[in-house]
Amino acid sequence: MPLQLKKNFKLFAVIVIVGAVVILSISSTNYQKQSAMLREEIFDKCEMIALELKFTREYLAETIALANLEHGEEARRLMPAMAGNEIGKKFYNATGYQLRQISSKYRNPDNKPDKFEEKALAEFEKDKNLSEYKGVDKINGQKVLRYLTPLYIEEACLKCHSAKETIPEFIQEDYPEDRATDYTFGDLRGAISVIVPVDRAEAEVKGHLIHMTIITTIGTIFLVTFIALAMNVSIRKIDRDKK
Ligand code: HEC
Repeated sequence: MPLQLKKNFKLFAVIVIVGAVVILSISSTNYQKQSAMLREEIFDKCEMIALELKFTREYLAETIALANLEHGEEARRLMPAMAGNEIGKKFYNATGYQLRQISSKYRNPDNKPDKFEEKALAEFEKDKNLSEYKGVDKINGQKVLRYLTPLYIEEACLKCHSAKETIPEFIQEDYPEDRATDYTFGDLRGAISVIVPVDRAEAEVKGHLIHMTIITTIGTIFLVTFIALAMNVSIRKIDRDKK
């Protein structure tokens, strides 16, 4: 290989390597940024969903108190936790977002908090002004985002969550192991817990970025090759002209 060509080839290789490093670092920063944005977006959605369920529950509790509903299937279906469970199931089937209503003093053992939820409840117990607790977690090997907002006892809740002897009889019968009694106004009762799988969404972001990186890399290699060839031709021409 003539000396000039060898030198040019080295320069070409250096440019390609530097270009690749720059493209890869831009892509990885982009991935991190887009993942963080995706998470924030999902957390915002969780906040809205949890608020919606919270207000639905409050409205139902107030309606039950107003109507003075006691026994019967109608009252059961209108109970905030029951309605929340049923709405949650429909919501999960439609969106994949899981909605739970949990408490360390649970009435229904299905509502027993897991580790992440226990941590959130402990934080809500410590700080009454804390309105949310969120983070990334793994459930059955799947990466999930988790969002919790606290539920406090209001006047309307006391009908079914105050002293055991005073709550409706059918609740006493249905839940012999009931722990959700003896609350007073303002107590932390539990939390609404939202769980969202993010593996798929993050994989989509990754796939999109890999695609973009490949296209940018190929484009850059073509561009550098073209410039190198063009420069080679002009240098040779100048050399020839000099002679
Ligand atoms: C008409 C009765 C009734 C009223 C009013 C009521 N609850 Fe409940 N609550 C229940 C029953 C019954 C369950 C158990 C539901 C189940 O089986 O999942 C429950 C469960 C819950 C749970 C889920 C954890 C657990 O203990 O299993 C939370 C949290 C909760 N209630 C909070 C509240 C709050 C806050 C209010 C007031 C806004 C309220 N409840 C009003 C009857 C009631």
